[in-house]
Amino acid sequence: MTKPALEEMTSKPLVQTINMLTDSQQTAIRKISSHDNARVPKIEATRPVSMFTGQEFYDLEQRHIFRKRAVPLTLSMMVGEPDTVFAHDGYGIPLLVSRDKKGEVHVFLNACMHKGAKLLEGCDPVKKGRITCPYHAWTYGIDGKLLAAARSETFENFDKSKHNLAELPSREAGGFIWAMLDRHAEPDFSSMDEQLVADMAAFDIDSAYIYGRKTFHLDANWKCVLEPFLEGYHVQRLHAKTVGPLFADVPNVTDVLGVNIRQISGKLNYTPDCLDIPNENIHKSVTHAYNIFPNGVVVTSPYYISVMFLMPTAVNRTTVQYFMLTRSPDDNEKAKELYKKSYDMIVDVFGNEDFWAAQMSQAGLESGALDEVVYSGLEETIPRYYDILESCLPQQ
Ligand code: FES
Ligand SMILES: [Fe+2]
Repeated sequence: MTKPALEEMTSKPLVQTINMLTDSQQTAIRKISSHDNARVPKIEATRPVSMFTGQEFYDLEQRHIFRKRAVPLTLSMMVGEPDTVFAHDGYGIPLLVSRDKKGEVHVFLNACMHKGAKLLEGCDPVKKGRITCPYHAWTYGIDGKLLAAARSETFENFDKSKHNLAELPSREAGGFIWAMLDRHAEPDFSSMDEQLVADMAAFDIDSAYIYGRKTFHLDANWKCVLEPFLEGYHVQRLHAKTVGPLFADVPNVTDVLGVNIRQISGKLNYTPDCLDIPNENIHKSVTHAYNIFPNGVVVTSPYYISVMFLMPTAVNRTTVQYFMLTRSPDDNEKAKELYKKSYDMIVDVFGNEDFWAAQMSQAGLESGALDEVVYSGLEETIPRYYDILESCLPQQ
């Protein structure tokens, strides 16, 4: 292979132009009207407050969604190299996520098959060929196989092959790892829509750098945390002092990809003509916001992508894992400065504005002041999302 051809295959342009996106994304982008022509629909939509505060609804979601269908668990790049493993506790279930020597991803229960001790603590990925239990030193391969048990001759009829780690069904695509949280449930990966995966692949999420990540523990129902990522109504108001002025008060172009939602909108500087400026970074004028059903969020910015997993741990408790992904490592002064500034800003906006609002809203909903929540035309994706969510629950 000639050198230019090799370079072409391996080098990744630092900015994305519209033609690097999928046909489906490009079609949606071309549907964004100029801000002058944007019309916000009037809608009449409500949902009962008990969806956010009731234990009964929470249990239904857990049973029929989170334990019955594969959920987005983490990013492929958390186990970017073979023989990498980390502990994942976000869903309140001790898990291990690993990539074995052959490059295959596994999700295990983080429990030793001798007496259940947690094999690994701490959520930072580590590179190691094997995992040894701290209790009695049983040793496992990164593929979950029990390799050795200390003083194994003292167990009568001991069959090593019967003590491999308990594995949860998992799949990897488009830079994400999905897993079934209940290993006894019939595996259902139907949420992994082909177009969604293609869109994520177009963003190069499978080869992105994890610049920073942060875990938030919030006093709010997971849907209160999700809602701000399904609507633009709050952006110019809640974010008035930060990012609000960069956005326009216009509706999104929304597409449902299987059970996932893609919202595309023009920022304040967007005009239909700007899409045809050669070599222009598409993320400067257009924002993509996805819901990866049920609880994953992907939002594009000019120089980075935000990915979040909103993991319910109780009816009014949510653990959020936030990731900021970049197309290049911060290996030069310019990148260092840009990425640091972006990370500080986005963690502040999400943490101190969106998540703060979610917790404030939860407290008000729990006060009993309202029986139902009402949604405007600028929030129309929220009831659309709930239609999908409710279709996965038994008919009430
Ligand atoms: S609990 Fe792990 S070796 Fe005993
Ligand atoms: Fe927001």
